[in-house]
Amino acid sequence: MKLTDIPSYKNLSTPFYFYDMDILDRTLDTLAELSAKTGIHAHYALKANNEKCILRAISAKGLGADCVSGNEVLLAAECGFPSDRILFAGVGKTDREIVDALNVGAAFNVESLPELKNIDYIASKLGKVADVQLRINPNIDAHTHKKITTGLDENKFGFPEAAFDEVIAVVKSLSNVNFIGIHFHIGSQITDVEEVFQLECERMNEIVSLFEAKGLVVRNIDLGGGLGVDYNDPDRNPIADFNAWFTTIDKYLVRRQDQTVHVEPGRSIVCQCGSLVSTVLYVKNGQNKDFVIIDAGMNDLIRPALYDAYHRVDNVSAMADGRKETATYDVVGPVCESSDVWGEGRVLATTRRGDIVALRSAGAYGSVMASQYNCKVLAPAVFSDDESVPTYEPLF
Ligand code: LLP
Repeated sequence: MKLTDIPSYKNLSTPFYFYDMDILDRTLDTLAELSAKTGIHAHYALKANNEKCILRAISAKGLGADCVSGNEVLLAAECGFPSDRILFAGVGKTDREIVDALNVGAAFNVESLPELKNIDYIASKLGKVADVQLRINPNIDAHTHKKITTGLDENKFGFPEAAFDEVIAVVKSLSNVNFIGIHFHIGSQITDVEEVFQLECERMNEIVSLFEAKGLVVRNIDLGGGLGVDYNDPDRNPIADFNAWFTTIDKYLVRRQDQTVHVEPGRSIVCQCGSLVSTVLYVKNGQNKDFVIIDAGMNDLIRPALYDAYHRVDNVSAMADGRKETATYDVVGPVCESSDVWGEGRVLATTRRGDIVALRSAGAYGSVMASQYNCKVLAPAVFSDDESVPTYEPLF
């Protein structure tokens, strides 16, 4: 089933997330090919989308998992990611989560000294040794939205340079943590790929040398995620520019034979395969503009309200029946908040009540950030390789 097949189903119960598994497969194949060519391993960041079908498709292609909660670690293990390829990151790991991750056999991306000591303590209680990477704050500007940039000095993430001597001394003194590498993550939706990732690699080269000069052997180099996607034209660019990303890393990162390089893509793997499918409830003619009111709201996809994010809106019914005429609309959701707006001044095919529309590029940070605000029901997931779609019993 393709997105454009959806209007042919009768009595569709919307909104729902639609995932085009063919796009996901092609994305994963592109990534796997580049990984094999460059020796750069990818850990998928589960926070972008945690649908089990999607996780199983990703683990089947040999990727590792980057997790930010104990439940993500457990889910990754359940969905086939091998335990030695599961990483557990995040600034606020609870004792319960640390225990779960140690039992699974995941490695940790550690963000502070008290956390490092706590992991050592819990590992000693369980008679285990935890593999740890230290997350360093590289103080790099990722040229992205301020709410999704994470590598600047004033951020809550990672160790700043001023803390290096102390953390190195502490790592050496602890017996239940085993230092394995250095981790960066500088931000998300990075579109200045060459420029920003070159800077990141150069900074990583400095930090690795500094740590090794102080007697810690850096086996893993983890550059985090962040590769951006084309929200404006998902049909022209359904697959993110992994080639530019991996080529930049290959060119600027200094690495030895005994070192492995990792990245942690989330958005770039799952974003373009997902759309939020919705029904037009009303077309309302205002004084100066016309509104298309749809049944999907900010509770289903919060990115526009939270980050002013752009998601393309396609009238899929009009695409399917070949309607050519266009009009300009503000497309809005049903939630009682003025920020529940999908887009202002959007040019769409002339739109009618009952049309099916798709909010595109919604596979990443869409369903995972949904809420039940206004007592709405969470939008279910529909997969292109499974013909079943949610339907309703007609009321009349
Ligand atoms: N690794 C770490 C440590 C991260 O914090 C993140 C994302 C990733 C990897 C994956 O980054 P990606 O490849 O997806 O850019 N909710 C926001 C994005 C938040 C990203 C948080 N960290 C959005 O909807 O744009």
